[in-house]
Amino acid sequence: MASIVFVPKESTSGESRVAVSTDTVKKLIGLGFDVCVQKGAGLESRIPDDEYAAAGAKLVTATGAKTADVVLKVACPTDAEIKTYKKGAVVIATLDPYSNDKAIAAMAKAGISSFAMELMPRITRAQSMDVLSSQANLAGYRAVIDAAHEYDRAMPMMMTAAGTVPAAKVFVMGAGVAGLQAIATARRLGAVVSATDVRPAAKEQVASLGAKFIAVEDEEFKAAETAGGYAKEMSKEYQTKQAALVAEHIAKQDIVITTALIPGRPAPRLITKDMLKAMRPGSICVDLAVERGGNIEGAKAGQVAEVEGVRIIGYNNVPGRVAASASQLYARNLLAFFTTLVDAETKTVSINTEDELVKATLLTHDGNAVHPNFGGTATDGGA
Ligand code: NAI
Repeated sequence: MASIVFVPKESTSGESRVAVSTDTVKKLIGLGFDVCVQKGAGLESRIPDDEYAAAGAKLVTATGAKTADVVLKVACPTDAEIKTYKKGAVVIATLDPYSNDKAIAAMAKAGISSFAMELMPRITRAQSMDVLSSQANLAGYRAVIDAAHEYDRAMPMMMTAAGTVPAAKVFVMGAGVAGLQAIATARRLGAVVSATDVRPAAKEQVASLGAKFIAVEDEEFKAAETAGGYAKEMSKEYQTKQAALVAEHIAKQDIVITTALIPGRPAPRLITKDMLKAMRPGSICVDLAVERGGNIEGAKAGQVAEVEGVRIIGYNNVPGRVAASASQLYARNLLAFFTTLVDAETKTVSINTEDELVKATLLTHDGNAVHPNFGGTATDGGA
């Protein structure tokens, strides 16, 4: 009998994405698995049940989880969901391990092998599995669209018989994957764009997109990138210099989009209420880091907050606001990783704990928490 892959309808509130597309359902079947999709799972990503059925999936209820050998998900499963999984089941999702200790412990206890997709190493072999990039790219795009929607003025310069509308000035803070896409999108809408980051590598990338790079470029800045390409937490002195530069710059901006994150740490606070006060009435901020504590003082998760006359957009799950596209890409990321776990002869999952992708992403296995950064005792692997 073929092993069963189960795909639930996400139960976390506001989660509009789904872990498989019709295309990946066909590929999973091609790998030798039976695919069971919970009814309605794809609706918010614009994939009706009959399209899954036409791709070869069996439509089931939530109880389909009980017989599953593999569960493909978007968000971390709830306690109730974990209880329905059988011992030895494999769960692959964005498990948000920094904030889900309890779920990790519960999955270990239940004998589930769980993989956190966001811990995938950013190496060439795993590029097609990089959910952080695929989702952040869409979030960066959507942040600009959300800002344009709230903004009471036009983004591009318009020279008309009735007068000239100036181009909006957009400042992007954090020029990683989301920030670079925000820059590109704002430029396409005709805005005048500037950006900042603490990693020196970002300077050239910002310039290549036609935006002006603004940063305190001291000795600390020149060394501010980890071997993995991520930002380090900056010193108090650097933060003070950065704040002074930012305060002066954002007083002249119409839209500010913040995306600054440091893996495993709270998001750095980049904009204070005083800085907001210096902006023009009707200015817009978007805080893409709001779920990690926020880059902007006064930003509220899940809301558009008004602080000192500036509206701060703090929507949760921004990739989920472009759900149909986000699900297509996420599903491809998941399939690419899942394929590496499949034993082509037996057509079952076979976990090789020596594989570097497995080492980096496996959180629980054989009844234990195994990841060194999240309750495990192994000596290698890592985020
Ligand atoms: P992220 O989501 O962890 O952080 C977003 C951005 O915020 C980063 O660029 C970071 O430097 C910046 N930041 C942090 N603290 C800041 C502060 N105080 N002020 C201003 N900016 C601050 O990063 P993301 O987007 O996941 O990418 C990190 C790096 O990894 C980028 O260089 C990206 O191009 C690279 N990358 C490499 C890949 C590969 O080699 N396959 C794939 C994807 C990304």
